[in-house]
Amino acid sequence: MNFDDVSADIESVVLTPEEIAEGIARMAREIERDFAGETPLLIGVLKGAVMVMADLARELNIHVEMDWMAVSSYGKSTKSSGVVRIVKDLDISLEGRHVLIVEDIVDSGLTLSWLLENFSSRQAASVRVATLLRKPDALSVEVPIDYLGFDIPNDFMVGYGLDFAEAYRNLRGVGVLKPSVYKD
Ligand code: IMP
Ligand code: MG
Repeated sequence: MNFDDVSADIESVVLTPEEIAEGIARMAREIERDFAGETPLLIGVLKGAVMVMADLARELNIHVEMDWMAVSSYGKSTKSSGVVRIVKDLDISLEGRHVLIVEDIVDSGLTLSWLLENFSSRQAASVRVATLLRKPDALSVEVPIDYLGFDIPNDFMVGYGLDFAEAYRNLRGVGVLKPSVYKD
């Protein structure tokens, strides 16, 4: 869906579909250069990374494989705790593989640091990270991001995979959700 369909809920447009496509293409050119001659294993973290994975993988002019993981943070808080439970594990072995984690957004970076540690213990040859979006808090922890689309402000955003209560993931762009939608 388009911004017009949810204009009552969106405070401001952060990224248009065209800007997202430009960012994805820029990341893809860097990834193609760095993985020349390899077949990287792209790993998406469900569900948010579905849109980035679909567009990034198609933009890449090299062979890739794709796999998916579903994780959930322990605890009820909306902020991730850093303690992660695997809900759906990978199907493909990481041993000897060049892995590229594909993320929609890195906020605190806690999920990502857990994944990096988990993947390196599975004997991957290398593990790199691509994320479309990064929030300011990610800069305060050690989260190595190899391919970045955009730095965005610390507002609550929806669209292009990002949800509020499972809604808005199918919005083509990214926008700031009006606080009136989630505060009543
Ligand atoms: P963290 O980097 O471990 O804090 O976790 C990042 C996760 O928090 C993402 O995968 C999203 O599920 C969620 N998240 C962070 N910021 C937003 C936002 O602005 N909108 C929607 N979800 C967000
Ligand atoms: Mg996510």
